[in-house]
Amino acid sequence: MLTHDAALQWIARWDRQQEGYMPDREERFTALIDAVEALGRPDPLVIDLGCGPGSLSARLLERLPRARVVSVDADPLLLGLGRAAYPGLRFVPADLRTPGWTGLLGLDGPADAAVSTTALHWISATDLHRVYGELAGVLRPGGLLLNGDHLDSEDVTPTLSRLERALRGRETERVFGADRPEDWSAWWAAVSADPALAALDSERTTAGAGHHGSESHLLSQHVEALRAAGFSEIGTLWQRGDNRLLCAVREGGARPLGAVHA
Ligand SMILES: C[S@@+](CC[C@H](N)C(=O)[O-])C[C@H]1O[C@@H](n2cnc3c(N)ncnc32)[C@H](O)[C@@H]1O
Repeated sequence: MLTHDAALQWIARWDRQQEGYMPDREERFTALIDAVEALGRPDPLVIDLGCGPGSLSARLLERLPRARVVSVDADPLLLGLGRAAYPGLRFVPADLRTPGWTGLLGLDGPADAAVSTTALHWISATDLHRVYGELAGVLRPGGLLLNGDHLDSEDVTPTLSRLERALRGRETERVFGADRPEDWSAWWAAVSADPALAALDSERTTAGAGHHGSESHLLSQHVEALRAAGFSEIGTLWQRGDNRLLCAVREGGARPLGAVHA
């Protein structure tokens, strides 16, 4: 049986594994949550897209305890870890590529923000148009999409893009040197070997989202899909190398921000 403590330990190990790919992951989480907080709502309704085991959702709730967070993912094992570790969060199983996924969220009003980290590049450019289109339908006017991911600009500014990737390489080298954390495959191999996770792991083979590499890794793919979906202002709020926090404002809001502190 998966205990609360064991789930927390697996998630701590997940976090270290993810940091191997982005040493400034916590800084990006902080910037993203700062942006949600800057909306000025004490109890914002926030959807976490591709939440995994809930690392971002949990940090959001810790900073904004009255936030109503709906955490969505297609992977039963990651959802199972999140549910066991964070009973205060609501996890919803859904594949973002399936039309109508927003209907599964059980929202009781328009959302103030949709957030995501290191997830949406898994979705093809064609599906991304549909995902952002559906999302626009459940965000309030002036609501935010905040997407933290490695987004490449090689199609528009190839020299800058090479420099951005070089910065990531140097930062990783500086932080970890030869002592890199375990990688994605090693983490999954370890999880699959835990008898307490066997049932969830067997569900993965049929219900997992599947990972076919980086399908929409270009910044331009996201900007185009967001514009087509009715997001007006689109820009980068935080960046280090190619690791960015992309922000888009759902059209129709007179003032997207309720209270911004100077
Ligand atoms: C690298 S993980 C990031 C998880 C989490 N956001 C974090 O930062 O730790 C990518 C996540 O996206 C989810 N994902 C990928 N494609 C998806 C889809 N089509 N629908 C729902 N979730 C998806 C995966 O299951 C996985 O949990």
